[in-house]
Amino acid sequence: MYKYVPTFTDYIIQEQRNANHATGSFTNLMAQIENSAKIIASHVKASGLVDILGKTGETNTFGEEVQKLDEFTNKLLVDTLISSGEVYAVISEEMEQPVYAPKEHAGNYIVYFDPLDGSSNIDTNSPIGTIFSIYKKEGDTLLQPGKNQIAAGYIIYGSSVMFVYTFGHGVNGFTLDPAVGSFLLSHPNMQMPKKGKIYSINEAYYNRLDKGIQEYITAIKDQDGMRARFVGSLVADMHRTFIKGGVFLYPADKKQPEGKLRLMLEVNPFAFLAEQAGGKAISNLASPLDIIPTSIHQRASIVMGSSENVDEYLSYIK
Ligand code: AHG
Ligand code: MN
Ligand code: MN
Repeated sequence: MYKYVPTFTDYIIQEQRNANHATGSFTNLMAQIENSAKIIASHVKASGLVDILGKTGETNTFGEEVQKLDEFTNKLLVDTLISSGEVYAVISEEMEQPVYAPKEHAGNYIVYFDPLDGSSNIDTNSPIGTIFSIYKKEGDTLLQPGKNQIAAGYIIYGSSVMFVYTFGHGVNGFTLDPAVGSFLLSHPNMQMPKKGKIYSINEAYYNRLDKGIQEYITAIKDQDGMRARFVGSLVADMHRTFIKGGVFLYPADKKQPEGKLRLMLEVNPFAFLAEQAGGKAISNLASPLDIIPTSIHQRASIVMGSSENVDEYLSYIK
């Protein structure tokens, strides 16, 4: 018998029905992101062909100009969101400056996105992703603390393509059915294990870490069953953390005193998702979601994952 599985579209329409005074604007915004995700997914799948079809600046066999994947993804998201009529401004990791929608076409949302996270992994065929974070416009500022996010999520282009998303009522994961082209609800109400046995950090930077962090890493290696994993795509490392639990760390260190990851584009969307999945996220002993941002591209240290792993980390550095 046919089994009905809700699609992402069903899900956001239901969310709209549940919301008082919903106008459909947010639903349209999410639909635009979902559609962009499908287009990006199909390009990611073909990315290995770029070398034989032509490089950036050249035209491919179809006469289209071939763009580098991250440039293409960035342009697709900017153009799609700006022309949706739902955004006031968009901020991309790939662009120094925000892009504002023309006044006559501006909406009420601000969208931050990292169009292609982990892009150094493209040529090795490893998982990459797209990250987004949505705020409601308040005054003219683009800078709001992460706790004001109304939605955040990521798309992972891995062995399957998944769209994982929260709007503050838990986390839901949808897997792309490639035959039909729909995202199907495959991981309802994702909750990460309270404790996991995987730690994820770029350990090549060990010698420049603070002493407390070094002690923590040395100590957890002795725990029974502990393993290390580090893909180097935040999306992939965090997706695994949602499913299997454990802890992800990108701390500040002597060479990167602010950390590497971007507060508004990488840290806050994942901190929001982690908390919604029953996990924890901290930046310098406090929640990154409380940091009042001073610039759109500022960096922040981050430790996040299963609540008991993060508490254990805190016990070493306090
Ligand atoms: P991006 O590809 O968007 O620039 O981000 C890469 C980020 C993140 O995905 C990953 O966790 C981190 O960089 C890895 O950094 P290191 O190479 O310093 O470990
Ligand atoms: Mn990134
Ligand atoms: Mn990026």
